Amino acid sequence: MKTITGPTGQCSQLYLDISKQTHVLVAGTTGSGKSVVTRGILNALLYRASGVSADRAELILIDPKGTELVEYKYAPHCISYASASNDCSMLGVLQGASDLVDRRFATMQKDPSKMDNRHYYIGSDVWVVIDELADLMLSPDASVVKRLIQHIGQLGRAARVHLLCCTQTPIVKVIPTEIKVNFDTILALRTRSAQDSRNIIGISGAEQFPKVGKALYQCPDNIGITVEDLLYVDDSETKRLVDHWRGQYTKNELRRMSNNVYDGVHSPNSRYSGFLHKLFG
Ligand SMILES: Nc1ncnc2c1ncn2[C@@H]1O[C@H](COP(=O)(O)OP(=O)(O)OP(=O)(O)O)[C@@H](O)[C@H]1O
Ligand SMILES: [Mg+2]
Repeated sequence: MKTITGPTGQCSQLYLDISKQTHVLVAGTTGSGKSVVTRGILNALLYRASGVSADRAELILIDPKGTELVEYKYAPHCISYASASNDCSMLGVLQGASDLVDRRFATMQKDPSKMDNRHYYIGSDVWVVIDELADLMLSPDASVVKRLIQHIGQLGRAARVHLLCCTQTPIVKVIPTEIKVNFDTILALRTRSAQDSRNIIGISGAEQFPKVGKALYQCPDNIGITVEDLLYVDDSETKRLVDHWRGQYTKNELRRMSNNVYDGVHSPNSRYSGFLHKLFG
């Protein structure tokens, strides 16, 4: 599956090809456009996500502020959503994503027809989106969070479970080396200092960018790091897209789906049972 993130400096198109670029880190100072980039990637996924076979995308959303990704909660593709109103739920959803990786591997071991010739799971691509990594990594549960993110980062590729993480706090406590090495694609948006830029992507330069719209970009295909222009999407576009997908289902189907979306605000005790039900039920 490919998703457009924006024009390149040369006005050709910049793609994320998630069969090659498994996990994506988006970092930059507050207001630099991290959430806009994230929504651009998600919209591009949803534009292509036909709901059938290879192009199917599903979303597991961790949105500490409860405002940046909330529109996607209502998309039929969303299998799980949590915000910071309930810390336990964000952890529960992350645990659910990590369990999904394990279950997919267990399925492939039991039934080799569930994997393709690259030994990848045959099924939907699942995106685990964390809008602000620092909210989890600086919480009292940091060591558990680190273990879960590392687990998804290391094993997610063949299970087709991908990380898309944002942070405005590019310090070692938030993106320790064990986690950072798993991100094969990095976008460094405007940073506060040259040191922040180096922490994110290994070189300085992002501190000189205008407030929004530019990024230092590193991906497995690139030799070196390039400067890219980023796309802009507004909320109304996202709403139209989500409404379009909701329009493909009957009211009853949508009700059943939304009942199964794990929402830590409304069902703090259910942990991720609804989430698992939706995936495997
Ligand atoms: N590529 C862009 N082109 C034009 N405007 C943009 C672009 N990206 C972001 N903006 C503007 O900058 C604002 C801040 O963007 P965004 O909310 O994505 O920042 P952020 O990095 O997520 O901030 P925070 O860390 O506070 O969550 C947006 O509301 C939008 O108006
Ligand atoms: Mg944001």
